[in-house]
Amino acid sequence: MKPVSDRAEFAAAKASEPKKLFIKSFGCQMNVYDATRMADVLAPDGYEETAQIEQADLIVLNTCHIREKAAEKVFSELGKLRQLKEERQARGESTRIAVAGCVAQAEGAEILRKQRAVDLVVGPQNYHRLPDLVRESVARPVVDTEFPVEDKFDHLTAPSDEKIRERGVTAFLTVQEGCDKFCTFCVVPYTRGAEVSRPAAKIVAEAEILARAGVREITLLGQNVDAYHGMGEDGAIWSLARLLRRLAQIEGILRLRFTTSHPNDMTDDLIEAFADLPALMPFLHLPVQSGSDAILEAMNRRHSAQDYIRLIEKIRRARPDLALSSDFIVGFPGEADADFKATLDLISEVGFASSFSFKYSPRPGTPGADLPDQVDEAVKTERLYRLQDLVERQRQQFNASLVGQVTPVLFEKPGRHNGQVAGKSPYLQPVQIDGSAELIGRQVPVEIVRCGSNSLFGRLVETGSEGAA
Ligand code: SAH
Ligand code: SF4
Ligand code: F3S
Repeated sequence: MKPVSDRAEFAAAKASEPKKLFIKSFGCQMNVYDATRMADVLAPDGYEETAQIEQADLIVLNTCHIREKAAEKVFSELGKLRQLKEERQARGESTRIAVAGCVAQAEGAEILRKQRAVDLVVGPQNYHRLPDLVRESVARPVVDTEFPVEDKFDHLTAPSDEKIRERGVTAFLTVQEGCDKFCTFCVVPYTRGAEVSRPAAKIVAEAEILARAGVREITLLGQNVDAYHGMGEDGAIWSLARLLRRLAQIEGILRLRFTTSHPNDMTDDLIEAFADLPALMPFLHLPVQSGSDAILEAMNRRHSAQDYIRLIEKIRRARPDLALSSDFIVGFPGEADADFKATLDLISEVGFASSFSFKYSPRPGTPGADLPDQVDEAVKTERLYRLQDLVERQRQQFNASLVGQVTPVLFEKPGRHNGQVAGKSPYLQPVQIDGSAELIGRQVPVEIVRCGSNSLFGRLVETGSEGAA
């Protein structure tokens, strides 16, 4: 038997002491994924997640910098956390407060100056160093926003099967991070750095762990996911399509999705994957931002409205049951009424199943913030209202079009009422049926009988002697 040093014994004793961790995420799905990885990397140090923030020994705010409101929210949250920290201190309990995510990357040490209760600021590329940083922060506040040379993914702890099961039958998996596109409104190239693709073998291994523990649907994440070009298992560079084909072979994986894509990286092989990979869901989030060529150019999107429309036609030819969602920005500098009308026209022509829309928010350090002809707040508000009215009508119409149809549903959790079970359609619509919890983790055909404002309601379709399954 190996002798155990005092130090190792001490570390083991410390690690087994349970401590409570609370992570609050803002922003995009990548932050949701990062939160799981932060919890995983802190678990060996004895940190267990809690849903009760008042009990947390370590609170992580996983922040978003995309619009001014998102960034401001962080500081109002931090004000509340400072109070909580003081209350706990009065009871003799200590609390570490960490700021992670894109505001951490963008503002760094400035956060410590604005809010003294913060112990630790950590950028998205440094999460593998969290356990060390938390320990260091006991003595004094620490900031780590350097872009490290090592790959954080090589140092992040894998989750336990139990943890994966707790998180449910759908999972996110980051395959690509960062962005080289530099749209003139966007902070992401600054907060997440240059585009990097993870090697396929690492992604496959992570997907296999998830599938073995019961995950049935994986959404591949990247700020520019369709630009994925990672080292393949055969040593060649793989595209996203090649990666999807490989992941579809993993036993247990019933559904694959990917987000977010840029129109210019929707290559022919990716479009073909929609045609012949049944596991790839016929639902694509493809942000267009604007329908005006002048605005698209000022945004540095590098495609025209017609390019986008032609691309959609091509993808729909490959997968006729495909539905789309998109992001729109209203009130980008210089956007005249005619430009805005062009956006509404594009929406009417394409038809979206759902979408996200935002008022342009000038972000420090981005070229858009310095452009002349900033649009009045009142004009932005009015345009957003009109755009949302149109896309909401399209969404309702799309939902209603499912009624009477049979669609596969992957069941995820018990439903709202006893005896009900809830899942998602291929188009991410929530679906409720009367059925048993045994359906959770299975994909079965469901006839949609009614649609509410957000959910669809259905019943199991009998499939011969095996019954409902
Ligand atoms: N990588 C994705 C989007 C990342 S940000 C893409 O290429 O489309 C998500 C969405 O936030 C963007 O699509 C855009 O619609 C919106 N957004 C980004 N910066 C913004 C800003 N400064 N003001 C308003 N909306 C913004
Ligand atoms: Fe931002 Fe444009 Fe990159 Fe998307 S493609 S993350 S909008 S810079
Ligand atoms: Fe926000 Fe950063 Fe995501 S700015 S949208 S959390 S990449």
